[in-house]
Amino acid sequence: MKSLFPILLISMIIPTLLSAEISVETQNLPIPPIIEGNKIELDIQKGVLELPFGTSETLGFNGNYLGPTIRISNGDNANLILNNNIDENTTVHWHGLHVPAQFDGGPHQIIQSGESWNPQFTIKQAAATLWYHPHLMGKTAEHVYRGLAGMFIIDDEYSKALNIPQDYGVNDIPLILQDRRVGRDGSFEYRPSRPDIMHGYTGDVVLVNGAYNPVLELNKGTYRFRILNGSNSSIYRVSFSEARRFTVIASDGGFLPESVETDQLIMSPGERYEILVDFDSIGESGILLDIYGGTSYLAMSISTSSIPGRFFQHPKYFEYDHPDYSSTELIRRTFNMETRGMGRFTINGKQMDMDVINFKLPRNSEEIWTVKNIGRGMMNIPHSFHVHDTQFTILSFNGRSPAPLYRGPKDTILLMPGDEAVLGVSFSDYSGIYMYHCHLLEHEDSGMMGQFLIE
Ligand code: C2O
Ligand code: CU
Ligand code: CU
Repeated sequence: MKSLFPILLISMIIPTLLSAEISVETQNLPIPPIIEGNKIELDIQKGVLELPFGTSETLGFNGNYLGPTIRISNGDNANLILNNNIDENTTVHWHGLHVPAQFDGGPHQIIQSGESWNPQFTIKQAAATLWYHPHLMGKTAEHVYRGLAGMFIIDDEYSKALNIPQDYGVNDIPLILQDRRVGRDGSFEYRPSRPDIMHGYTGDVVLVNGAYNPVLELNKGTYRFRILNGSNSSIYRVSFSEARRFTVIASDGGFLPESVETDQLIMSPGERYEILVDFDSIGESGILLDIYGGTSYLAMSISTSSIPGRFFQHPKYFEYDHPDYSSTELIRRTFNMETRGMGRFTINGKQMDMDVINFKLPRNSEEIWTVKNIGRGMMNIPHSFHVHDTQFTILSFNGRSPAPLYRGPKDTILLMPGDEAVLGVSFSDYSGIYMYHCHLLEHEDSGMMGQFLIE
């Protein structure tokens, strides 16, 4: 697979970096609270986020910014109550979840201002790190940017039995990465220009779990990080200072068939990875987040005490049943992602139309989807292809079999200009309308989306 980095193919104006007058005070990394149980209530509300450079008006679930981490087990019934307490409509989508179409939270399931929505469904999928965020047509980018996003963790019998860190917030740490652009008044604002829509709205600071310049205090031992790129359009290279190696155990939809050792990850908007990292000596470390030539840093200080319990063994193989995509009888489809001009993005030449179903397919089907980023000349823009309701298998990438990191369940895939991925996609028992789209949210909002009907 060809290198996905550097991503400086994108000619973009790097916003003026923060001036030196900003205090570099640090704060401990906030950990979103866990919300468990069968009945989960989320209030969509207005908030305020104080950062060293200014105060921003934000949106959050049950708080000022972001939302609690929902944690539930495979087989359990989720009963979610969403109260829209803001003065505009929105939706809440369960990214990566297999859910009945009427509870998917896509652009058709609007929660009117002042109203509530009560999706109920049974969790029917393997352990994974998923997330939730609004999906209102034309407003997704702004709502996510202002703070509406949270993690959604699924456990199963298999994940619970693994000898890996599982103590949320202690040795199993969620990291929600988001960049924000700081305006003159010090607040982060959402006012995309035409070029911003073209290249995606990128920021000049990176927040981790809503905090700027956070520090994480660790003990010696092995940690698990669940990393989500919850940015609107930025692609990150995630690595450690001192080029520390780590073990990747899961991608978007669950465990990799075989864990992968590496020293960096490329993450496009919407993607998740779970990694295990050994901190065996005291001192300082940090996660480097490279983004468009700038670098942000999540500092970690490792103390003498070790985390209770044994030193974890890295699992080498996970059980993961791939559906079999080898049959030649499967239906094939092609998705051409194309930048047609300033802020005009299409999939197969079409822009999203709420009244148009782009294709239909039967329940319980498996198909082969070829997804291409048709980028050329000035239109060298990356895209991140996402499908609702399912996890797909990457069968090939640019004609080669995928690198080990890309052999696990995925729901979002980065395609640089010219890239082509062949995906095995399967759908099961639910019928209804679902979306596929570019997860660079400015592209999605300007129409780089389509819908399919499972009959
Ligand atoms: Cu994360 Cu259709 O979205
Ligand atoms: Cu989704
Ligand atoms: Cu795109």
